[in-house]
Amino acid sequence: MDLGLTERVYVVSGGTRGLGFAVARALTAEGARVVVSGRDASSVAAAVAAFGESQATGVAADNADPATPERLVAAALDRWQRLDGALVNGGGPPLGSVLETADDIWRHSFESVFLGAVRTARVVAEHLNEDGSLAFVLSTSAQAVIPGLDVSNGLRPGLAMLTRTLATQLGGRGVRVNALLPGRITTERTGYIDAGNTASNTAAIPLGRAGEPIEFGRIAAFVLSPAASYLSGTAIPVDGGASA
Ligand SMILES: NC(=O)c1ccc[n+]([C@@H]2O[C@H](COP(=O)([O-])OP(=O)(O)OC[C@H]3O[C@@H](n4cnc5c(N)ncnc54)[C@H](OP(=O)(O)O)[C@@H]3O)[C@@H](O)[C@H]2O)c1
Repeated sequence: MDLGLTERVYVVSGGTRGLGFAVARALTAEGARVVVSGRDASSVAAAVAAFGESQATGVAADNADPATPERLVAAALDRWQRLDGALVNGGGPPLGSVLETADDIWRHSFESVFLGAVRTARVVAEHLNEDGSLAFVLSTSAQAVIPGLDVSNGLRPGLAMLTRTLATQLGGRGVRVNALLPGRITTERTGYIDAGNTASNTAAIPLGRAGEPIEFGRIAAFVLSPAASYLSGTAIPVDGGASA
């Protein structure tokens, strides 16, 4: 199946490592071009080198910074004069319980995880037309409690509902909006979560193992591509069946 990604241009925020990197990998393997971002400039440079400068450019930027989305869009338009969508992604919120998480952690997580995602989608959407696609990387916490990740449990369900809201508002322009809900996919983030002793039990995953980032990357690349032309307003678990 041809995904129709050749020469399309996507912003992949948080695209320097982990799931975002894998999505950028899958997109570029199908001939798309990507603008990858992350806070650390050397990781941005390494990611661009991994994908090749003909297919990738990078911006060192923090999702919590209100100026970031405009910088990402400008990078795409300056380089390729087009923009077809975005993987709206970044670092996850810290571990912690509702009863113990201080206001400043909630505020910072909201700025980065929640408002950062909303702003990125809003600014990218201004430039999208027919066949444009936004995919938010959320978490299975959008649908069910993950013990120990209470800030995620608080923020992700709201973003999942915003995904559906945006799908209703942008559908008339032919722009699709979906959410991806990773379960347990081995990245630096899962290392951090394991260190906090809240590792999910892989025995509870019907496929019996954690996912590999590229397994997530392929699904996200399809959702972003024109091949998924009638898919919008959904939240797709990518969790080896764990939410079944
Ligand atoms: N892996 C899983 O199993 C899993 C499960 C559920 C949900 N998720 C969610 O999926 C997202 C990606 O997870 P991951 O496992 O790929 O994490 P990761 O391995 O920690 O990678 C995060 C990426 O985002 C960038 N990033 C972090 N904070 C950022 C910020 N404020 N602004 C811009 N870029 C930022 C990082 O680069 P810098 O550090 O250089 O900024 C890196 O490129 C997270 O939101 C996570 O909560 C992951």
